[in-house]
Amino acid sequence: MKILVINGPNLNMLGIREPDIYGSDTYEGLCRLISEHAEKIGVETEIFQSNHEGCIVDKIQEAINKTDGIVINPAAYTHTSVAILDALKAVNIPAVEVHISDVSQREDFRQISFVRSYCKKTIAGHGFLGYLEAIDYLVKTAGE
Ligand code: DQA
Repeated sequence: MKILVINGPNLNMLGIREPDIYGSDTYEGLCRLISEHAEKIGVETEIFQSNHEGCIVDKIQEAINKTDGIVINPAAYTHTSVAILDALKAVNIPAVEVHISDVSQREDFRQISFVRSYCKKTIAGHGFLGYLEAIDYLVKTAGE
């Protein structure tokens, strides 16, 4: 099974950006955590990060027929991007939405998620562990 993990804008700044909200662990630490977990459970992962909406759309399109599941934290694009929602719908690959912070307890503008309507599940506020839960969920529900 192959899972693509996509991270949107400013997530490469983890460890530096707003540590009171996102913690002090780095993006490299997140990638390591995901890779180690995936290896342990026998799942192949590719981890991708971009600050650009079109690059995220391109990456989702490229996943067609190559990927069994997508874990996506679209970051700020969660709240604005119809293009990312449409790309997920186009490839029709099972996806889980992840947020490090609990967006439901934050500003009003973070209450909208365009990708949520497509994703099989949303995990928010579980920190980096949310990515591992998302991978486990995709493995558990594969083929359903
Ligand atoms: C985030 C929440 C978003 O509102 C924000 O724009 C991010 C990160 C999260 O992981 O908690 O960049 O997706």
